[in-house]
Amino acid sequence: MENVLSGAPAFPSNQSLIDIDRRHLIHPVTSFRGHEAHGARVLASGDGMWLTDIDGKRVLDAFAGLWCVNVGYGQESIVAVAAEQMRRLPYATGYFHFGSEPAILLADKLAALAPAGLDHVYFTLGGSDAVDSAIRYITHYFNAIGKPEKKQFIALEWGYHGSSSNGAGLTALANFHRGFDLPRPWQHHIASPYPYRHPDGQDDCAVVASTVAALEAKVAELGADNVAAFCCEPIQGSGGVIVPPRGWLKAIRAACDRLGILLLVDEVITGFGRTGPMFACDDEGVSPDFMTLAKGLTSGYAPMGALLMADHVYQTIADSAPAALAVGHGFTYSGHPVSAAVGLEVIRLYENGLLDNGLRAGARFAHHLARIREHPLVGDTRERGLLGAIELVSDKRTKAGFGADLDIAGRLSALTWENGVIVRCFANAVIGFAPALCCSESEMDLIFERVERSLDQLLDMPDIRRALG
Ligand SMILES: Cc1ncc(COP(=O)(O)O)c(C=O)c1O
Repeated sequence: MENVLSGAPAFPSNQSLIDIDRRHLIHPVTSFRGHEAHGARVLASGDGMWLTDIDGKRVLDAFAGLWCVNVGYGQESIVAVAAEQMRRLPYATGYFHFGSEPAILLADKLAALAPAGLDHVYFTLGGSDAVDSAIRYITHYFNAIGKPEKKQFIALEWGYHGSSSNGAGLTALANFHRGFDLPRPWQHHIASPYPYRHPDGQDDCAVVASTVAALEAKVAELGADNVAAFCCEPIQGSGGVIVPPRGWLKAIRAACDRLGILLLVDEVITGFGRTGPMFACDDEGVSPDFMTLAKGLTSGYAPMGALLMADHVYQTIADSAPAALAVGHGFTYSGHPVSAAVGLEVIRLYENGLLDNGLRAGARFAHHLARIREHPLVGDTRERGLLGAIELVSDKRTKAGFGADLDIAGRLSALTWENGVIVRCFANAVIGFAPALCCSESEMDLIFERVERSLDQLLDMPDIRRALG
């Protein structure tokens, strides 16, 4: 688009930008007509915990973009390394034995940071293709060891493992299945370790034991010789921030070993300080056979994900075919040097204070969540580190939710935006939080002041009051 008089580029007005968006841009996971009616909230800039939209409205981002900008916005040192890498070498393929220094150093760094045994790294562009790569390599692995019948995958209800053709079937959220012919016949789900909605939710051991029992029962039903892997998030993010009791992941690791199946831990959200330590697996001393990473890996400053592969799997695949035969899995942008340089700098920031600040902010976060539990609309709060949620109910005693006609998520999304804070409003009346690790105590206080005001305004609505038990 050009200004015909001056020859200078003509920038569209804010309103025409929103109209152009309506006409041409398909947004992820939206109702097409719903988005046309809503219109885009166009973001223009960010600084620390704050975002500014094209109308100049400043809001506190309590969701780190999409649980990814763990270092916060406006980190100049990241901009500098990205610019320098772009200038020096903007692209290097990893095919045909080529490589680049940032990709090699980042693989080395991840292998050093990750749980023991996860020594090998395949870079992707995000989380979905990391999960998809895991499915491909697991399939390849069982063919390589002469167990081609081991192809069934088990995952958790409420789990999210991205949006690739196969990964979306491991995902257990209805929107990702409906109309997409998923899950596939080899994809199965067992009940989620959801303490608030578990019959023995107060008893951590019972919650852990029930997942282990469900996994054992599913493997028995399918036949252990047919099951390839169990796949889970350490804390379920997109299902509504479901936090299993401590010890759950360790019990799952032990069960997978007993059952002779591989364990894929999806740390796309939980990685890089989100739950406190560098990885959620660290908290439980668990080393999975595969681990998927993305989001906090580059803090959203450039697209990148990674699949970490255990040495025993790597060595088996390596020995399974003649050296001249390629393992046919690859992406043009695997190990992109600019993303890798960003990743190295982001990890440097985590190690130079941000992880520690995240722990401090996490304590303040937990304090506010405990306090807000008393609100008449709040049934449950849960968190680990800087990942947490508030679950709203219409009746605290029965834990009943709200009718879909009340559109709690839509109303809360509008109220919180008006009040100057971004949170994730799930359809099942859950409010998700994932503030950046740079969050200060006063910013955390402000987040909760604004969320609480939004809850009070929701409670003041006559039809919401009538819905309360
Ligand atoms: C646990 C988990 N796995 C995979 C993905 C997919 O990642 P991406 O959106 O980068 O493809 C996500 C995204 O939210 C996720 O939360």
